[in-house]
Amino acid sequence: MNDNSSTNSSTRSEPGELVLSLRGVSKHFGAVSALTDIELDVHAGEVVALVGDNGAGKSTLVKVLAGVHQPSTGTITFRDQTVTLSDPGAALDLGIATVFQDLALCENLDVVANIYLGRELNPLRLDEVAMEVRAWTLLNELSARIPSVRDVVASLSGGQRQTVAIARSLLLDPKLIMLDEPTAALGVAQTAEVLNLIERVRDRGHAVIMISHNMEDVRAVADRIVVLRLGRNNGVFYPDSSNEELIAAITGATENAVSRRADRRQAEQGA
Ligand SMILES: Nc1ncnc2c1ncn2[C@@H]1O[C@H](COP(=O)(O)OP(=O)(O)OP(=O)(O)O)[C@@H](O)[C@H]1O
Ligand SMILES: [Mg+2]
Repeated sequence: MNDNSSTNSSTRSEPGELVLSLRGVSKHFGAVSALTDIELDVHAGEVVALVGDNGAGKSTLVKVLAGVHQPSTGTITFRDQTVTLSDPGAALDLGIATVFQDLALCENLDVVANIYLGRELNPLRLDEVAMEVRAWTLLNELSARIPSVRDVVASLSGGQRQTVAIARSLLLDPKLIMLDEPTAALGVAQTAEVLNLIERVRDRGHAVIMISHNMEDVRAVADRIVVLRLGRNNGVFYPDSSNEELIAAITGATENAVSRRADRRQAEQGA
């Protein structure tokens, strides 16, 4: 169907309206400052990759936006309104959907049931046919490769599970979708498929925030790369930024592969 998988960096359209804007967002856990003075803008039709070392504050930021944690200070503006995301339901109602790293799918239920988990069309008398048609349509629009929507999740591959979790998050047509390490557990082919899926979600006009440790995946799909380090902003990069620049921003090291190579060459010449 609507297959835009050929989209690449050269044909990417301009991002749309500003969907999300964070200013001066901090989060303390007791004496620990998990986030300090974070600024972040995300537009419709844009994939923003959130990268940083372990403990940089990525998951905390996603949890603040998912309504799991309350920021200690700062403002969150969502579609021109200053918002308080007091709980996960409030975030969902506003149009902020999250696919957490553990996916939270039910192994023993089929794809339709997982997409509708807790949101059955008619809770008193489940409208199975309507749910199946909608699930199938949703997956088709994403050109997702799921053999049958009546397969139980236990029989699906890692990539297919990620696909089901993403389809589930799109059910309420959110403005913003956040993905925590969507390719972490996947092989090469499945990673490519999930990255294509993320592009299709973006091309349908959703704003996407993706956390990833994999710079190759980030480069393949992100329009902008936001680096966090020790809970603070540490630069904004683009897919054509060099690995060295990115790694230096992530680790805070001035010492990196480039400088090491240069040092070695100098030492060899000196010898
Ligand atoms: N509930 C909590 N209570 C206390 N400290 C926390 C809590 N959640 C996170 N932290 C601390 O906040 C900091 C940021 O953690 P966070 O999980 O956001 O990092 P991350 O960037 O997601 O790292 P990783 O790549 O390892 O997932 C860490 O120092 C962590 O120990
Ligand atoms: Mg994390």
